[in-house]
Amino acid sequence: MDARGHGHAGLHARLHARIQSRFGDMFEGDGADRYDEHHRRLRPIHTAVARRAVALLPAGGRYLDIGTGPGALPALVAAARPDVTVTGVDVSQRMVELAAARLAVVTGADRGRVVLGDAAALPLPDGCADLVTAVLTTHHWQHLAAGAAELRRVTAPGGAVLIVEVRGPARHVARTLRQAGFVVGRENAWAYALPFARLIARVPA
Ligand SMILES: C[S@@+](CC[C@H](N)C(=O)[O-])C[C@H]1O[C@@H](n2cnc3c(N)ncnc32)[C@H](O)[C@@H]1O
Repeated sequence: MDARGHGHAGLHARLHARIQSRFGDMFEGDGADRYDEHHRRLRPIHTAVARRAVALLPAGGRYLDIGTGPGALPALVAAARPDVTVTGVDVSQRMVELAAARLAVVTGADRGRVVLGDAAALPLPDGCADLVTAVLTTHHWQHLAAGAAELRRVTAPGGAVLIVEVRGPARHVARTLRQAGFVVGRENAWAYALPFARLIARVPA
């Protein structure tokens, strides 16, 4: 099955093309500021994911949020877990600025940072995270398979990836994560009262 139109890779490619043609660079520049103003409505999701992330992170763990946007989720996790180091990644320069400012309020300069990068080529070393989250971002990734391979590369043995995605695209994401070597399960997402799926992907210890 290839990325031109067959199988789940083709479905993802078509979804991504539709999103791009409709929204373009919606997360760059002013678009990032507009998203920052309105994304408070996602607070219930961020709160629920933060609670799960806090439970999954080992003592002194390393937490990574990809497609972090304005950084609401990593700021919540950092506030709840002063023992963990927190890294955010986003492909939008303005999102990186917004997230870095939000995270710094909680972490200071010591244990929090946000870096510019694409999920398909993360500027991070192998096995650098015990827990990775990606919330409502994978449908924006042009190269989903490359992103899944990068998730696998940066997740430490015994670590986990928690993904929140719209239900339809979540099926493609789950299959792609399996192909990348994860053991993938679906968690109960009804707590959100929203039409999102929550996937948990684990790396064997
Ligand atoms: C809908 S926003 C979600 C932001 C955040 N996760 C949240 O829950 O508020 C999607 C984010 O993914 C980022 N993004 C899109 N494609 C990306 C990629 N290939 N690599 C990293 N980040 C990406 C966008 O810049 C944007 O900040």
